[in-house]
Amino acid sequence: MEFQDVLRRRRMVRHFTDEPVADEIVEEILAAALRAPSAGYSQGYALLVLREPGDRARFWASQPPTEQGAWEPAVRAAIMRATVLVAVLASKDTYLDRYAQPDKGWTDRDESRWPVPYWYVDAGFLALLMLLASVDLGLGALLFGLIPEDIPAFRAEFGVPDGYDPIGCVAIGHEDPAAPRRDLRPRRRPAEELVHRGSW
Ligand SMILES: Cc1cc2nc3c(=O)[nH]c(=O)nc-3n(C[C@H](O)[C@H](O)[C@H](O)COP(=O)(O)O)c2cc1C
Repeated sequence: MEFQDVLRRRRMVRHFTDEPVADEIVEEILAAALRAPSAGYSQGYALLVLREPGDRARFWASQPPTEQGAWEPAVRAAIMRATVLVAVLASKDTYLDRYAQPDKGWTDRDESRWPVPYWYVDAGFLALLMLLASVDLGLGALLFGLIPEDIPAFRAEFGVPDGYDPIGCVAIGHEDPAAPRRDLRPRRRPAEELVHRGSW
């Protein structure tokens, strides 16, 4: 698919069918994620891939529906049909260690040196590449955040080490052709409001 078409078609998909995704397609999406740039080439991230129905069920059980959750029950059920879940995790320590190396020299590991937490920036790149690769391969995908209170249950269920923070989870699968499409165009902020040229 042309890159411009991938960009145009990429939307967050919240209605999946339960049709499985072929192994090689999943591998292609994961490989795309690992092409992401990373500050200092730190690569302080990890992906937890859940494809077995039992593993996905354990994930969803660790993330029960919440009062303040934005998903209607039917939408949650349609998201849960996605046959691939990839949790994206960021490791701050990997960055602090990398930047304490001689070519960087921040041996005090002082976090105030960081303009923003690059470990989260980079993990976001992985997620975006998976979203784009999914579209390119004819699939749909959704990036969603974990509810902070449910992160300990997620960690415990899957043995995620303390130093790895889940920045979100990407659900990937075949989009339900009957899925409703949200029209976000009225809410789209004009480019002139967002892009400043020459000065703010
Ligand atoms: C960091 C991040 C977190 C998001 N978390 C959620 C989420 O928890 N649940 C959800 O339904 N959508 C989530 N979204 C999707 C956004 O709502 C969506 O990208 C936005 O409304 C624009 O729609 P589009 O991606 O279809 O163009 C998230 C997106 C990003 C980038």
